[in-house]
Amino acid sequence: MAAIHYRTLTIETGVWCGNRCSFCYQQAYRALPDYPRLVPGEEIRRRMQWGLSHGYDEVSFTGGEPTIRPDFLDLIRAAREMGYRRVAVTTNGSRLSDPTFFAQAVEAGLTSMGVSIHGPDAATHEGATGRQGSFGRALRAIHHAVATHGTLRPVRLNTFTVVHRGNVGRLLELARVLAGLGVRLLVFQPAILGKSNFREASRVQVGIEEIVEGLRPVILEGMERDFRVKLFNLPPCLFRDVLEGLDLDSYREATFREHDQDAPLQNDPDQETGSVETPACASCDVRSTCPRIHVTLLPQEDLAAHFEESLLSIAAWDHPQVWLSGTDLMRPATLYRVVRKARLNGFEEVLVTTGGTSLWDGRAGWIAMRQGGASRLVLVHHARDPRSSDRMICHAGNDANLLELVGRWRQEAPEGLGLGVLVPVSENEWPFLESEGIRGLEGIEWDLLLRAPWRTEGRPALQVRRIRDFVARARRLPSRPRSVVLHVPWPRRWEAAALPGVAIWTRGRLRFDLAGTVLPTAFVEPRYSVLNWSLPHLGGQVLCSPGDRRVPLRPLLARSIQVQGITRETLFRVRRRDDGPGGPAGP
Ligand SMILES: C[S@@+](CC[C@H](N)C(=O)[O-])C[C@H]1O[C@@H](n2cnc3c(N)ncnc32)[C@H](O)[C@@H]1O
Repeated sequence: MAAIHYRTLTIETGVWCGNRCSFCYQQAYRALPDYPRLVPGEEIRRRMQWGLSHGYDEVSFTGGEPTIRPDFLDLIRAAREMGYRRVAVTTNGSRLSDPTFFAQAVEAGLTSMGVSIHGPDAATHEGATGRQGSFGRALRAIHHAVATHGTLRPVRLNTFTVVHRGNVGRLLELARVLAGLGVRLLVFQPAILGKSNFREASRVQVGIEEIVEGLRPVILEGMERDFRVKLFNLPPCLFRDVLEGLDLDSYREATFREHDQDAPLQNDPDQETGSVETPACASCDVRSTCPRIHVTLLPQEDLAAHFEESLLSIAAWDHPQVWLSGTDLMRPATLYRVVRKARLNGFEEVLVTTGGTSLWDGRAGWIAMRQGGASRLVLVHHARDPRSSDRMICHAGNDANLLELVGRWRQEAPEGLGLGVLVPVSENEWPFLESEGIRGLEGIEWDLLLRAPWRTEGRPALQVRRIRDFVARARRLPSRPRSVVLHVPWPRRWEAAALPGVAIWTRGRLRFDLAGTVLPTAFVEPRYSVLNWSLPHLGGQVLCSPGDRRVPLRPLLARSIQVQGITRETLFRVRRRDDGPGGPAGP
């Protein structure tokens, strides 16, 4: 008999959750003042209606934690009354551990449950969830679901496990605990990085090689003990020799979407984000069930090659200074290599920019920059900008990340590397510039760099008065920047003509930096949710060049896996080359 395929509409019911999972891709969203902690019930009903009219017959609630909504049971009932054949929930199990609440949910029409469990014992699981007692509650919820099997209302059950540094060596143990409880479908996935969790998750993320090694025995055990393993965001071709132990049925659904969206229904529900397909995948025999390669596997080698290529393309401009932006995903060794390459290409001054969310934060990063020959680190401050395409920055700014870096800089202040802070000329900057953290720069040599406001705001008026007032106040900052510098890379002719006027108006208190070339890197391929925050507006074109030329660039693709079939060997080889002197970020 042919299997019935359900079309599942996944609805995020809001980011509110009692757990505090260290790797959670939603954690920063909880801090955003106007991000919905709970999506209104009416809105969820509207989405469900939309789903029905678009051929969905299963609705899956996720969050945050859907079960802590006061209207959770009503939503299940509403889904069933509308005609959904199945109603599922992804849960941490806390509320559903209560037998009465569990029975009410089943009574209301809950048919499926995915319980997240991240370790074989309380210490490991709760080390990840940050919540005491969460392990016992998750197990109780699992127990209730198993107890429905063989009754008239069986609740389909699976577990979800994020494979991370804390549990990768204990997956078999975990599988045995779960199988012992009667779980028959175990879902595993790597910790995925996004804008919201980039730093935290990159600290606990483990390499693909370790994940595969941790999971193979689990799959083999499942073949013997009659449970199945399902993988999210891991290509099944890595498990060719144990494919029979995998549940390969239903990968068509995009599990993780870019959360940076204003209205989920405006997006094409078939569009997947966060994973890539290589040409070699076209002829792969497990293609139809493959979730593709997730972008966080992007090899460092490719990242470096992409930068090197871009550097070559601008070396001919014969300019003394280059700004390297978009280095966030580099490990220190890659950063070293790229900075070095810039120097070898003739750039005398190499500036590395960061918004404070990078894999090379801290000492190993400073060393890589300094040894590579970088002249300066530039901390780029993003004010809360309503026009930004980036929801995180738009709502939250990046103050905390930058202030943390400033704190480290004060402790470790690497010799021979300069410091700059780049800000827009905006009143909104003062709380940041006058904060305690920035005050801590007093006594340290640093420069305050200003973005040319007419460029960032798209208005040609020079706004000289605004610059003048800003500079006057900046000069009085207790943190005492060595100089205040207006950054106008590749000035256009009219800008060059106008700048002496600006100099006079600011009474000589402003310096000018006209030498910078911002390295053109094309990180704007929309599927790369991790990458596209660096230069969100560029669209694969050069930011600045002599005569305002716009040079189209090839978008960044994982080239080393593009040219050949993906096998364990190719991925592993790429990974080995990845690891910098500091190795992968530690916990
Ligand atoms: C965000 S949670 C929401 C549902 C519920 N609160 C829970 O804990 O299951 C949905 C699923 O995503 C998983 N998850 C969270 N952060 C992740 C990450 N960075 N990478 C992969 N999966 C992640 C969780 O473990 C859970 O299985």
